[in-house]
Amino acid sequence: MSGKAAEIAERIAPVLREKPLAAIVSGSGQSRLGRRLGLKPIAAMSALPHFHRPTVAGHSGEIMAGRISGAPAMLFAGRCHFYEAPEPEQVSLAVRVCAALGVPRVILLNSAGGLNAAFEPGELMLITDSVNLQFRTPPLSQPQGHERAGLNLCDMFSLELIHIAREQALQAKIRLHEGTYVAMPGPAYETRADIEMLRMASGDAVGMSTLPEAYAAHDAGLQTLAISVITNSCVRPAAETTHAEVLQNAAHAEDNLARLLRAILKKLAQ
Ligand code: HPA
Repeated sequence: MSGKAAEIAERIAPVLREKPLAAIVSGSGQSRLGRRLGLKPIAAMSALPHFHRPTVAGHSGEIMAGRISGAPAMLFAGRCHFYEAPEPEQVSLAVRVCAALGVPRVILLNSAGGLNAAFEPGELMLITDSVNLQFRTPPLSQPQGHERAGLNLCDMFSLELIHIAREQALQAKIRLHEGTYVAMPGPAYETRADIEMLRMASGDAVGMSTLPEAYAAHDAGLQTLAISVITNSCVRPAAETTHAEVLQNAAHAEDNLARLLRAILKKLAQ
């Protein structure tokens, strides 16, 4: 696995120019985010070996780079989910490439359904904890479990980065909720009974991604920050999620998301 990431990193490194302080992985409906942040395309995942080109609408599959608020950064526009991956390692390949390039931190973005009734579509949630109902992990560097010490997931999301995100949101007057992200296998959206169960499992937002990448980043020693864009409410009466609604609300949230990312990267560059 690391051989594949190293091979991709070797192809990307010459066009990167400078080592990113952070790599962003964007989610559904966030394909325009990179351009909005002033980044330029440097490669297409489909033109690189081993990458499974994202097949979900709203994921462009471009790799972009440049500076955000003066900080060198890169961005993967779209991701591969477990439900579309021919091989499990492909869900975390972008993160492994970051590790091979020596990028020290990742910012994982996603679109998620709000389980917390206080969350409105178009608002943002900082992920402070997670529940993995995908019941799978991407390949990790050490076999986990039994007599071996597994990854300690309690500190998977960097407290230092959470602190920076909180502070920057406050200063920029961006409403940033905090909560627990539940990862479901997908690709179908949840039933009402699923949603009841997820709320009982202390979930504040539900999606189908992010945790495999967070596990891999933690395994590789990268700092991780994760932010959900709440694209729909799962708890309003008669709420029925469609992918079109998810894409539309993701676009609405783009303003605040771009502002928050600029502020976070500015702080990282200081
Ligand atoms: N459920 C799962 N994934 C999602 C949702 C949802 O309601 N909205 C955006 N991604």
